[in-house]
Amino acid sequence: MLSEAQVQMVQDSFTKVAPIADTAASIFYDRLFTIAPEVKPMFANADMAEQGKKLMTTIGIAVKGLTNLEKIVPTVQNLGVKHLDYGVKKEHFSIVGEALLFTLEKGLGDDWNDELKEAWATTYQILADTMIDAMEKATAEKAAGKGFMEKIKDFLGLGEKA
Ligand code: HEM
Repeated sequence: MLSEAQVQMVQDSFTKVAPIADTAASIFYDRLFTIAPEVKPMFANADMAEQGKKLMTTIGIAVKGLTNLEKIVPTVQNLGVKHLDYGVKKEHFSIVGEALLFTLEKGLGDDWNDELKEAWATTYQILADTMIDAMEKATAEKAAGKGFMEKIKDFLGLGEKA
């Protein structure tokens, strides 16, 4: 959970990062691909400048939405499900979180401190947990759906090994 003071802190600091969004996005991806080169192929089809803009816009929307979290939850859940198609796994979230905190530290310079780090880490965790929950749920539903279809096929005698 975020306190009101933490929400304020995160929102204020983001207004300082927003004007340098392009720089921040490039710091972010440089850092991400340095600490986790294995995720690079996932972005093979992405226009990185465009991707960077989307990332910053989304973080901006999320940061704005912190005062009214319930409102942004469905959007964040949908974003999570989309990430399944990109091949993103649960374990990638901590790496992305690290790259994000690194980016904020570099982008904010003297304004960065432990308190702000804690507030941003919690913010990211809330987003990541919401996305991961939705991804797990979608995966489970897909598996259940597949099981159901297999049962129907078996029932109709259409199964591969009936
Ligand atoms: C809170 C965490 C995250 C946020 C807010 C976020 C945000 C976004 C957004 C807004 C998009 C664009 C979706 C669209 O085009 O409709 C996107 C795409 C993508 N994200 Fe994330 N993301 C997060 C975590 C991750 C993680 C952990 C990974 C794993 C490395 C990842 C990898 C990707 C990839 C591969 C794409 C698609 C690139 C493309 O081909 O266009 N994201 N993300």
